[in-house]
Amino acid sequence: MQTFSTTSLRVRDNQLSILDQQALPQEKIWHATPSVASLVEHIQTLRVRGAPLIGLSASLLLALLAENGMPKAELASALEVLRAARPTAVNLMNNLDRMKQALAQENFVAALSEEALRLVAEDKALCDSIATAGSELVSPGSRLLTHCNTGGLATAGVGTALGVIARAHQQGKVANVWVDETRPLLQGGRLTAWELGELGVPYQLICDSMAASLMGQGKVDAIWVGADRIAANGDVANKIGTYSLAVLAHHHGIPFYVAAPHTTIDRLCPNGAAIPIEQRDAREVTGVAGSFGQVQWAPENASVYNPAFDVTPAALISGWVLDTGVVTPDQVAAGFFQPD
Ligand code: MRU
Repeated sequence: MQTFSTTSLRVRDNQLSILDQQALPQEKIWHATPSVASLVEHIQTLRVRGAPLIGLSASLLLALLAENGMPKAELASALEVLRAARPTAVNLMNNLDRMKQALAQENFVAALSEEALRLVAEDKALCDSIATAGSELVSPGSRLLTHCNTGGLATAGVGTALGVIARAHQQGKVANVWVDETRPLLQGGRLTAWELGELGVPYQLICDSMAASLMGQGKVDAIWVGADRIAANGDVANKIGTYSLAVLAHHHGIPFYVAAPHTTIDRLCPNGAAIPIEQRDAREVTGVAGSFGQVQWAPENASVYNPAFDVTPAALISGWVLDTGVVTPDQVAAGFFQPD
């Protein structure tokens, strides 16, 4: 496969490397990722994270394994192992469905490689289209609030919600971005703050619990988040804490936008209740760990509930900003996300 790189994926000498998103921003570490086991571990530890990136990394690895001689039957098993790496973001399943079709072809090595590269190129273009559509919704002087990380780190392009914010900043329309730190794994505090800093976008980092009071004081003009899965009725699974922001936005009359590529839509999933929500290790809540060190503050053996995602009902969403344009609540109610 040709040499190329995105913000957090690199292909060189027919090997995949990933940028460790758990080490950022203190350290920039690239890990060689030669096997299914290594990629599954990177995905499950969130070294590779973000809905689009998970799907792209799995597709690229599969293509590279084929180029490096893995037989067709083993590739088919590898695909299923990768598909089960994380349950909530449907981009992984949607991308691997396309890779499965490529694998079914006679010349599967070339087909897999072409399809994986096509997925990467498409994701880049999808991000661009989302940024174009979304930035039109941003008014001059906006104070925006975002949650988790939806930038270049999580995609092959400029990102989804963060891509919109970056584009609106280039257009001179962003006065400030409130960045939720995003407990428990701090994707906002570590990754979004870093990306906005690199892009020169003015931001202020806040603890998640500060968002309500900012909205109450009239200091938030719109909320922009990404998505891990959009169900057929428009319900959206995204990083835990997204739902509470949507409820707060509704109470304060603040627009709440979800930005995502069409690879995040699951038309066969009827509603949010049917979206599988990943439960994660208790240690993420009893303390915190990263390249900055490890600390535990809760009592030993504290009982913990740790869902990685929540579901925001469609009724709380002002607009679904896709690569194809902005989808309105009326369009969703009329069945926009329903199967054809
Ligand atoms: O657990 P993560 O960090 O993979 O969760 C990521 C999110 O929830 C993002 O908002 C979503 O994947 C969109 S990324 C463009």
